[in-house]
Amino acid sequence: MPKITVVGSISTDFVVETDKRPSMGETVEGKTFSTSFGGKGANQAVASARLGAETHMLGAVGQDTFGEELLNNLRTNHIFVENVERVTHSSGSAFITLYNRDNSIIYVPGANGAYSADKLEALVNGQTVIQKSDIVLVQNETPEETVNKLIERCHELNVPLLLNPAPARGLDQNLIEKVAFLTPNETEFEVLFPGETMEDVLKQYPNKLIVTLGSKGSTYFDGKSVQVIPSLTVANVVDTTGAGDTFNGAFAFAFASGLPIKDSIQFANIAAGLSIQKVGAQTGAPTLDQMKEHDYFEKAWHFK
Ligand code: RIB
Ligand code: NA
Repeated sequence: MPKITVVGSISTDFVVETDKRPSMGETVEGKTFSTSFGGKGANQAVASARLGAETHMLGAVGQDTFGEELLNNLRTNHIFVENVERVTHSSGSAFITLYNRDNSIIYVPGANGAYSADKLEALVNGQTVIQKSDIVLVQNETPEETVNKLIERCHELNVPLLLNPAPARGLDQNLIEKVAFLTPNETEFEVLFPGETMEDVLKQYPNKLIVTLGSKGSTYFDGKSVQVIPSLTVANVVDTTGAGDTFNGAFAFAFASGLPIKDSIQFANIAAGLSIQKVGAQTGAPTLDQMKEHDYFEKAWHFK
């Protein structure tokens, strides 16, 4: 069973479905409202745990009732939460508008923004959860200083780190050198590498940079040629929220289980394709048994 640590955000999603997006100063009527569990970090942890990885979560929630529910949800998904801090800030939240099954999000860090580099440092020094991981995942809903510290520490400890740079922000080239995997979508790619062509940048980072292209699949350079691994064709897209997170959690699971990069991407594409057929960021993340039922699942895949 692979061991995965996720450092990242844990949030409540407030989701509104609408036929019309309001413009400035306008009021429109929405169709549905619901709350669900989210946060890019928690979503990735749920994706990896549901597939069967021993998953440890590092981050922070508030001392409010949301914090209690967020922790319970992680526990329900068999995620170890001993290293999730309770802080005085309000728990993280995201306000999501679902329009035509696609989403736009306002994210309020709250407690997630209080997960400082010092807290992480104390943990790395005092414990072995990161040291013992097959892979560590992190995203950009955690403070930049904390993410940068994690990159440095994982590099020193020789633990592979996957940075999912969402939401987008700039990243120093020397830090890119130190991560094992960098997984932007197309928009995030533009922010990371402004004015550069994708092919050139992919070739600069073989077997490291994986750009997710939504329904067009995922692309990376294998050292010889640029590969495009197709997505699932999904007829009934219900909610794309969290698709990227499921991709990252599933990729980490597959890679840490011993699959080659190309197969890990194919595996992750299937998981993401299954996830968008359910409402909510975490609901649709598949189990390994659900994955095995899929036509595109390779019978030859062996998970250590
Ligand atoms: O990636 C999707 C997630 O990002 C949502 O669950 C929401 O919390 C947002 O911040
Ligand atoms: Na979904």
